[in-house]
Amino acid sequence: MTDAKVMLVTGATGSVGSAVAREAVRQGWTVVAHGRSDERLASLIGELQDFGRAAKVAGDVGGEGDAAPIVEAATQAFGRIDAVVDCVSTGPRAGKLTGPFKDTTPAQYGAFFDLSAAWFQRLAHAAYPHVAAQGGTLIAFISDAGKFAAANQTIVGAARAATIGFVRNLAVEAARDGIRAHCIAPSYVLESRSAAAMGSERLVKASKRAGLGLPTAADIAPVTVFLCGDGAARITGQVISVNGGLNA
Ligand SMILES: NC(=O)c1ccc[n+]([C@@H]2O[C@H](COP(=O)([O-])OP(=O)(O)OC[C@H]3O[C@@H](n4cnc5c(N)ncnc54)[C@H](OP(=O)(O)O)[C@@H]3O)[C@@H](O)[C@H]2O)c1
Repeated sequence: MTDAKVMLVTGATGSVGSAVAREAVRQGWTVVAHGRSDERLASLIGELQDFGRAAKVAGDVGGEGDAAPIVEAATQAFGRIDAVVDCVSTGPRAGKLTGPFKDTTPAQYGAFFDLSAAWFQRLAHAAYPHVAAQGGTLIAFISDAGKFAAANQTIVGAARAATIGFVRNLAVEAARDGIRAHCIAPSYVLESRSAAAMGSERLVKASKRAGLGLPTAADIAPVTVFLCGDGAARITGQVISVNGGLNA
């Protein structure tokens, strides 16, 4: 077993996940990076290994039985898991899930909820004994839509609020096993894949409202790694927005 703390980052090939993995390795963590594309994972691991220890685990997410093999492979890589940071994205899905509620696609609600909320519950369940053994941390990336009401976000907001409810309840219960749990909620993430898909008009409008400036993924990574470390040992159950002052 390694002496260094080990962080499993799921969705590590994405904008936020890769930034968290880079920051964690930079701060001395050993990282297990999860993704579904071998090519993207190999490229990330090559980069991480220039600074520290890292391994990869590939796997599709969605539906029963997805989390346990990923957690088991991650545990086997270095013999322990001290933190799990879930950065798997919720979309896009088939049909319409943002926009006016009356125009959304009910047939897609279940699949969307599974990836946006139930997946993290399965991941937390599979990781629980490993994280408890280290007195570690579970972090779910959600979105401000779960915290702040806005038009056109009914389905996304509902799924993200479900994770807030799960994490806050879990935090109180799992503290008895030494586990901390948090949500981190971005609103818009500059230079991310989602931001690129969103179009510049929305981003320009949001940027004007965010007095501190909208964050990049690199701005979000340090608080994430901090929450997993010893400096945050007495903090749990928090839902932390990183949005440059867009909402408070
Ligand atoms: N970016 C934003 O503006 C923004 C705003 C608010 C909230 N968030 C939230 O922040 C988190 C991270 O976002 P991000 O911008 O980093 O997303 P991203 O760049 O799209 O990355 C998503 C990650 O999830 C993986 N993934 C997606 N579906 C998967 C599946 N079915 N099975 C396995 N892996 C899957 C992707 O793999 P591939 O690399 O193979 O695609 C990638 O590693 C998400 O929860 C997102 O909803 C983001």
